[in-house]
Amino acid sequence: MADFDVEEVIAELALHEKVSLVSGIDMWHTYAVPRLGVPSIRMSDGPNGVRGTRFFNGIPAACLPCETALGATFDEELALELGKLLGQECKAKGAHILLGPTINIQRGPLGGRGFESFSEDPVLSGTLAARYCEGVKEEGIIPTPKHFVCNDQEHERMAVNSILTDRALREIYLLPFQIAMQSNPGALMTSYNMVNGTHASESFPLLQDILRKEWGFDGLVMSDWFGVYSVSQALNAGLDIEMPGMSKFRGAALSHAVSSNEVKEHVLDESVRKVLTAVKRSFASSGIPENAPELQRNTPETSALLRRAAAESVVLLKNEGDILPLAPTKKTLVIGPNANIAAYCGGGSASLPAYYTVTPLQGIKNKIGEDKVLFSQGAYGHRDLPLIGDRLRTAAGEVGYTFSVFAESLEENPNRKPVEVVQMTSSNAFLMDYANKNISGTLYYVTMEGIFTPEESGLYDFGLSVAGTGQLFVEDKLVIDNKTKQRGGTAFFGMGTVEERGSVELEAGKNYKVHIDFGTFPTSKLRQGSVVSFGAGGVRFGGCRHLEEKPAIEEAVAAAKAAAAEGTQVVVCVGLNSDWESEGYDRPDMDLPPNTDELVQRVLDVSPDAVIVVQSGTPVTLPWVKNAKALVQAWYGGNEGGNGIADVLFGDVNPSAKLPLTFPTTIEQNPSFLNYRSEGGRVLYGEDIYVGYRYFDKVKQQPLFAFGYGLSYTTFAFTNLKVDEPKAGVVTEQVLTLTVDVTNTGKRDGAEVVQLYVSPPAVNDTLSGIRRPVRELKAFKKVALKAGETKTVTIKANVAQSTSFWDEKREAWQSEAGTYKLTAEGTGADNKLDVPYTVAKTQYWTGLVKNPYA
Ligand code: BGC
Repeated sequence: MADFDVEEVIAELALHEKVSLVSGIDMWHTYAVPRLGVPSIRMSDGPNGVRGTRFFNGIPAACLPCETALGATFDEELALELGKLLGQECKAKGAHILLGPTINIQRGPLGGRGFESFSEDPVLSGTLAARYCEGVKEEGIIPTPKHFVCNDQEHERMAVNSILTDRALREIYLLPFQIAMQSNPGALMTSYNMVNGTHASESFPLLQDILRKEWGFDGLVMSDWFGVYSVSQALNAGLDIEMPGMSKFRGAALSHAVSSNEVKEHVLDESVRKVLTAVKRSFASSGIPENAPELQRNTPETSALLRRAAAESVVLLKNEGDILPLAPTKKTLVIGPNANIAAYCGGGSASLPAYYTVTPLQGIKNKIGEDKVLFSQGAYGHRDLPLIGDRLRTAAGEVGYTFSVFAESLEENPNRKPVEVVQMTSSNAFLMDYANKNISGTLYYVTMEGIFTPEESGLYDFGLSVAGTGQLFVEDKLVIDNKTKQRGGTAFFGMGTVEERGSVELEAGKNYKVHIDFGTFPTSKLRQGSVVSFGAGGVRFGGCRHLEEKPAIEEAVAAAKAAAAEGTQVVVCVGLNSDWESEGYDRPDMDLPPNTDELVQRVLDVSPDAVIVVQSGTPVTLPWVKNAKALVQAWYGGNEGGNGIADVLFGDVNPSAKLPLTFPTTIEQNPSFLNYRSEGGRVLYGEDIYVGYRYFDKVKQQPLFAFGYGLSYTTFAFTNLKVDEPKAGVVTEQVLTLTVDVTNTGKRDGAEVVQLYVSPPAVNDTLSGIRRPVRELKAFKKVALKAGETKTVTIKANVAQSTSFWDEKREAWQSEAGTYKLTAEGTGADNKLDVPYTVAKTQYWTGLVKNPYA
């Protein structure tokens, strides 16, 4: 146990030890000083599961619904429960620090990591983040809200300068972090980008003035991975630890900086203190030993919680004629690209191998019985061909393929022997953290080999993308050359190539040897823009039966037509997956994959009652939406995604989720449209504070589906909204208490979300003259109600946070005197009540406000 005294240790440490403590020793661990009893602690991604220490051939873990899905639940209790689950998963993986939650803002629909953030709204995001962190902490683990701040796009993420007003920075982008501070998270990760000209990881105003001084944060500040760009500036700004190791900027360079007083030793000591405190605290609170083995804890309780979370996140967008819920007694035809695959999480560092996954098709079969379910593919939705590793067999007949690592190329040594042979099932091998004592550096070679036995005869497509060089052979015949000619793409956080493809005619039941020769990143001449290399590169290969697009759609349409004639229910599952939404790149447009829209429209033409289920982490264009009577938004639902969808479709769960972000009709309609990418090295946050619904309200435009919108299978009514005037006093300590009677006026049990919006006083000459959003979410509460039941719901909001804007002249929040309108909004456009609330006297404040329930 780490019962050392931090100050005594600092007094004993040699300079080189201090310098070593402020950077990682590898991808995931801190430096240990055994002679002084200081152990090493482990960090792990984050945010929707705990992957452990291995990107390469990782150990399965629980995968939660993505954070946008959690945003849709508007459920603080659930966020707390899931935080606890993550804490327990950290213990299984021996991780003292969890790298999450992600609380950047979905400025627009195209963000590659949009799925990883809760919401476009800072209060929803910050409040759920605070509960998530509290849950993680209950297990003695340190959570790490990230990425501080304005990493709201992937395009040139390390190089881009986010340019924005102080007001937008405070009111939209910093606010989720400020609210998350309620949980005193213990760690924080800086972002890659610059904010108004300075990289966040070396910004004194952000890290010292705001985070440390104004908010009083005393936890550990870590860099994002490879997101440090200077020696002295970063340390002087208070970036405590550079991650990962081996360090690029600390080591000898930092010792030199200290010796030359570029960094004063007491400043270094302060960062050492933060690292040691995190080590000591997390050891004591988690009980996790140093370098613990990585285990799985796949329990029925975990599955039950994940299933509830998945179902609670599904948003019912349309239900004309009460088509939903479907009848479990009836036959059901399931169509579409997302039916038979598990789009369970987005791509990048949030991704992890799940304990298991459930596809929507399987979820429906589990619900109503295999014999009642028909399936037609209709179209493929993948961008890259589906991973094929678990459809291969090794020479010994086991599932998977062999991954043989060599220190030399075949040309260098025709008799080379592998330094290691690993049996793998995933054919996505990211070598970010692969290590072997016989390999030094990042240059090495791999041969992958497995046997593929097709179930059907026909043409098969294979695909190969690499960050490195690679060639794919079937029966020793070259099918794909991604070595001699390479084209830059998005694979492996933007380090890699596009997926190159080749096709081969195969016969059912025959064994075919598939093998890939791969050389790591240094073997490739391809270098792209401002992309930084993560480890040794990677290789991804996939394959599937070739699908002729038009006949596949015709087949699905014919099946849907027959279904309509027989009274069979039809469900169409479409959407995106981790190919389309991933860390490392943004989406080029808001569209569904090719052929999807045609498939949906043609099915609706013959089967107008077909239920459409969309999976995505961010909004997509739905050109056929007017013709769909029943529409459901299902995100990436984690392990239990498919069961959660089936629970809602068949009415075991009454949907209660609400959109945590606005769905515009077109990409052009969204306020970040003109400014969503890096141009000339910068991105202008031109929409200012008018992000998402704040913009649509202000310009009086109707999006396709509004923030906070979502239907239920029952109806609710609000009556009796009252506000308790807070006692006079300091504005940061005042709490507004609202009560409203909520009645379930329908025939089914259900849950309602009471959303509290605050509208500012009208701007006039006596007031500040500062324009403000029409209304802003300030609090929310979810309540379960039996059919016919009424409950009085109490909802609390901090007065300071509910009434203030950031006053740029005063550099403070201003709670402006005047009469505000407090509106409680529920399901259904008419379900709204408002009461006035008057702030008698203008007050200015900085710092933190308390959780109003605490
Ligand atoms: C991501 C972080 C993540 C880290 C470690 C970075 O690429 O931006 O969110 O925690 O990698 O995987």
